[in-house]
Amino acid sequence: TTVYLKDYTPFGYLVEAVHLTFDLAPNATRVTSRIRFAPNPEATDRRFFLEGEALKLIRASIDGQQVTPDITPEGLSVAAPDAPFDWEAVVEIDPENNTALEGLYMSNGMYCTQCEAQGFRKITYYPDRPDVMSIFTVRINGDLPVMLSNGNPVDQGEGWAEWHDPWPKPSYLFALVAGDLVAHTDSFTTVSGRSVDLNLWVRPGDEHKCAFGMQALKKSMKWDEDVYGREYDLDVFNIVAVDDFNMGAMENKGLNIFNSSCVLASPDTSTDANFERIEAIIAHEYFHNWTGNRITCRDWFQLCLKEGLTVFRDSQFTSDMRSAPVKRISDVIDLRARQFPEDNGPLSHPVRPESFQEINNFYTATVYEKGAEVIGMLKRLVGDAAYAEALDLYFARHDGQACTIEDWLKVFEDVTGRDLGQFKRWYSQPGTPRLKVSDEFADGTYTLHFEQMTPATPEQPDKLAQVIPVAVGLIGPNGDEVLQTQVLEMTEAKQSFSFEGLTAKPVPSILRGFSAPVILERDTPKAERAFLLAHDTDPFNRWEAGRALARETLLNMATEDGATPDADYLDGLVRLMRDDGLDPAYRALMLGLPGQAELAGALAEQGITPDPMAIWQAVERLKDAQADALGALLDALFEASQVSEPYAPDAAQSSKRALAGAVLRLITRRDGGARAAAQYAAADTMTLQLSALACLLQAGTGGAQLAAFYEQWQADRLVIDKWFMLQVSEAAPEAAAAIAKKLTKHADFNWKNPNRFRAVFGALAGNHAGFHAASGASYALLADWLIQLDPLNPQTTARMCAAFQTWKRYGADRQALIATQLERIAATPDLSRDTAEMISRIRGA
Ligand code: ARG
Ligand code: ZN
Repeated sequence: TTVYLKDYTPFGYLVEAVHLTFDLAPNATRVTSRIRFAPNPEATDRRFFLEGEALKLIRASIDGQQVTPDITPEGLSVAAPDAPFDWEAVVEIDPENNTALEGLYMSNGMYCTQCEAQGFRKITYYPDRPDVMSIFTVRINGDLPVMLSNGNPVDQGEGWAEWHDPWPKPSYLFALVAGDLVAHTDSFTTVSGRSVDLNLWVRPGDEHKCAFGMQALKKSMKWDEDVYGREYDLDVFNIVAVDDFNMGAMENKGLNIFNSSCVLASPDTSTDANFERIEAIIAHEYFHNWTGNRITCRDWFQLCLKEGLTVFRDSQFTSDMRSAPVKRISDVIDLRARQFPEDNGPLSHPVRPESFQEINNFYTATVYEKGAEVIGMLKRLVGDAAYAEALDLYFARHDGQACTIEDWLKVFEDVTGRDLGQFKRWYSQPGTPRLKVSDEFADGTYTLHFEQMTPATPEQPDKLAQVIPVAVGLIGPNGDEVLQTQVLEMTEAKQSFSFEGLTAKPVPSILRGFSAPVILERDTPKAERAFLLAHDTDPFNRWEAGRALARETLLNMATEDGATPDADYLDGLVRLMRDDGLDPAYRALMLGLPGQAELAGALAEQGITPDPMAIWQAVERLKDAQADALGALLDALFEASQVSEPYAPDAAQSSKRALAGAVLRLITRRDGGARAAAQYAAADTMTLQLSALACLLQAGTGGAQLAAFYEQWQADRLVIDKWFMLQVSEAAPEAAAAIAKKLTKHADFNWKNPNRFRAVFGALAGNHAGFHAASGASYALLADWLIQLDPLNPQTTARMCAAFQTWKRYGADRQALIATQLERIAATPDLSRDTAEMISRIRGA
């Protein structure tokens, strides 16, 4: 069944208070709910239906009178009074056999929950929808040493604990954790002087991996006070690390639950990239306390209201903590790798979807990352001061409410007096707009002509013009900036902007800072790109100029016999690498090349069938050419980027290691791995160890180090995930499927653990030439495992199906091979709703 945004109606009853009692037992947990309902004056329909799935109802009563509800697989209904009443129900559930990791489940002997989006209905009967907000009191009876729920602790004794959350919340923010856990504790004093106890709860043995996450939490709390004026609102803030978790983390009120890979960190087991990501996710979940929890979503179609905004906030935080240009470039790389293929393929959907079968399939790059881009555009259009004012109004006006995108846009309209009706199309029109640009110069006037066009997407053939903020600067022929960044506000399908009083034709720097999530189409002369690579004052566009040169030469090399690496690109790259004034991490990004999947997409866009092997070879040749062009400079850069101070995962050190790591990759192409082997042997941190191992595997050596790595780390599951992942991501194209298959037979391949499953299959899907090996072996292997995992864990299965979303780009042979696998999955009996929806959408377009 499909649910539609347009069908929204409020629930017939308000929930005034909820009391839950859990009697924990692995296979027979009893949940007693006592709920005070009252007729909702905003609603007319008094049908009393409570969602509930996989529950065994023991008894139910209304005002103390036993009732016998009608029960379906989706929930129960019963005649209810048109007046306030007390509902009581007892259900039994089986956490130990809950392999879907949704609702109440067990991970390594520990009880934990995941309720977003619709997991609470697997815990008890309830109006499981975000617009029903209530105050929860929770009693946990069990024999575990630590038993936690949302809010503040009320009291505890031998075998029980009681929690009370004073802030009204929807059921998706409910959480319970019980287990043998130890805490890393600290405290934070809020701006108004309230002291908050902070705990990071982990399994015994993980205590040494908590310090960094705790510091990140404290920085986030301070930042949200300083930048958004948001203060924390409970006496305690608990974070729990869980090994079996479908996603990254969850912002449950006062009790955030994290995939252990997204919170546990130590220098010997985590890379610099892990540290940065952990800092960002801790911030993200913490920021949800205001953008998500205090103000939540009316319905799941509004998911971007909390996710787009919270991603935008966490990216601002990372920009403030680290390098803003490096963060912006990394985010755009990620957007192009994950969101653009989604937006331009069969899974395309609006930032605010209008229908779904399974909401878990809409926790997407479009809702999250494009949702954040839309907020970035809004901020650019109204300016920083109006943005701050609008946010203040949003918090003041909507605290305690379940809101919509209309509410969100209204605060901006009220603060600025703007009409955001056209801007709102960013929320309703899917597809990536193409922005065509041409220019002309006459009599001292320079004119840019823009034309926007958004291709048809499934269900939306015709698109209207969107508001596109185009940040532009102009650079004079001598390299001086003649026009500083200006935001052109494009609202028409075609629009021109002129700049007068120029003495010579300037070089335009268009879409600075990637001011809109669009694809720029311009026949830019190569000389202009090289000029911008040397002179652009906008760090994003300077990087983009190099990226475009690399993309063009790669596309050429992948499609034309005898095409050689572009000399201007290589010259420009060498000059940049010599510039010690540039941040090392920025230079590392400059060495990077567009992803092979992105190149395949670019060819398909031009009507050329991409050949994954030819793309792989082009990339290999260009990397060899980079190594040759940089030559001895590589050694100098490598030496200059060594860090002699004790390890710290901060921006300054990790920036140097990022450059050293990128340079080591190229050195390995010249020395066959001698330097990498030396680094591996001397490494005392995971960043150095893993970057050396990656080089060795890529060079086709490293067997001894790979075995030693396993021996050294076999007791550390998060490091062993890396061991699985690296072998597949560094595999040569023709070997990838076989290596992945062999790894699935390894004793440590615990496929029921989402991190381990993703380590192998996420890496396989990400190894472009390996995944698309002509034999089809990777397609078949992935399909086998999706079919095997689906009955146990639909969510993780469905997410992994996206590996097939770009299938129509490829040639007839590959399409036929993939079609066979998609049909095989679709024909599997009892396929989950999650996977069935994904496969049918992928096959459909
Ligand atoms: N709200 C979480 C976050 O972005 C994501 C949880 C999604 N989980 C799910 N099963 N759909 O921080
Ligand atoms: Zn989130």
